[in-house]
Amino acid sequence: MKPVKFYNVDRFYQLNKDKIIELANEVFSTGQVLEGIYVTKTEKKLAQLTNRKYAVTVNSCTDALFFSLIASGIKYGDEVLVPAFSFIASASAIIRTGATPVFVDVNDDGLINFEKAAKKITQRTKAIVAVHLFGKMANPETLNSFSKQFNLTIIEDAAQALGSRHTEIPAGNTGLASCFSFDPSKIVNAFGTGGVIVTDNEEIAGKAKSMRVHGKSANVNNFEILGCNSRIPSLQAAILHFQLLQIKDITSKRNNVANYYYSKLSNIHNLRFLIPSQDELWNYHKFPIFTSFRDKLKDYLSKNNIETGIHYSKTLPEYSVFGKSEISYPVAEMLSKTELSLPIYPELNEEELSWICDCINKFYITQHT
Ligand SMILES: Cc1ncc(COP(=O)(O)O)c(C=O)c1O
Repeated sequence: MKPVKFYNVDRFYQLNKDKIIELANEVFSTGQVLEGIYVTKTEKKLAQLTNRKYAVTVNSCTDALFFSLIASGIKYGDEVLVPAFSFIASASAIIRTGATPVFVDVNDDGLINFEKAAKKITQRTKAIVAVHLFGKMANPETLNSFSKQFNLTIIEDAAQALGSRHTEIPAGNTGLASCFSFDPSKIVNAFGTGGVIVTDNEEIAGKAKSMRVHGKSANVNNFEILGCNSRIPSLQAAILHFQLLQIKDITSKRNNVANYYYSKLSNIHNLRFLIPSQDELWNYHKFPIFTSFRDKLKDYLSKNNIETGIHYSKTLPEYSVFGKSEISYPVAEMLSKTELSLPIYPELNEEELSWICDCINKFYITQHT
């Protein structure tokens, strides 16, 4: 059996080579490699998919989060709630504004625990960075009522959640601004990096547009705020646009892979899965499984040429960049020791899926029963 990669951008390329080369030729022939028609088209499509008025593409979701926080007035002295279990950018973007990330433990699905979050509120708490981990959405209704109760600005970290919905509300539609990532592991990915801010607020969109070009003013020759160089290359926008047109199909194929895993693995007692509720469409950015034999299983799969991922092997407060924390986050810590992400992408074929599931079943039969 050939190696099974954890995600497989090159297979997407092989399947769509002609179109991608055609797009490269089209973009490069115009000589306009930043901005241009595909950046406009991509932004329009993203605003439409998230039911927002504005979309501003940038060079990464990390920048999107930073720009959104700055544009919404977060500054030194403020506190911002963020789940203790996420990718580092969810919290590092807060530090870049001068504000303090206040970590909150999560539920066993990896999403922020609102009861625990309520206990962390102080006079200084101004915002919440709401992460839809693994692409599975935090309930927008609960998020809205929590934020209303404590007068908090919501910045949605929807980096992983493009295409997901909860009670018909798309990821990217809750709060003042929402941020998505297009890094190579994402369900819609650049061949490089990329991100976007979507919002209904004209001022936030204007500031984000300015910040992506060093803080340049729109109509006068001036730099009013500090920004950085964060425009998305036109070719990346063209490739993203091509994928965005297929997002329903991509989400549906990922759901098929997930359903295959559920059907072949749910008989294993030592494995825990996340199951979407009836009113939820999960994009399956990741297919996480949870097992106390995580490291041994990862090793076993690796020996069988199956690449897997761990998201994440540490909680955010454990990273030294955030200083030493004496506080424990028991659920986040449990997840960091037990989570394993299986390969999931539309191009995985049945032979590969069957091989992955056979190996996992064999692992539990031969090693742990
Ligand atoms: C939850 C979360 N937030 C933020 C980011 C940052 O995205 P980017 O790599 O586009 O900067 C990621 C990327 O993996 C992520 O998973």
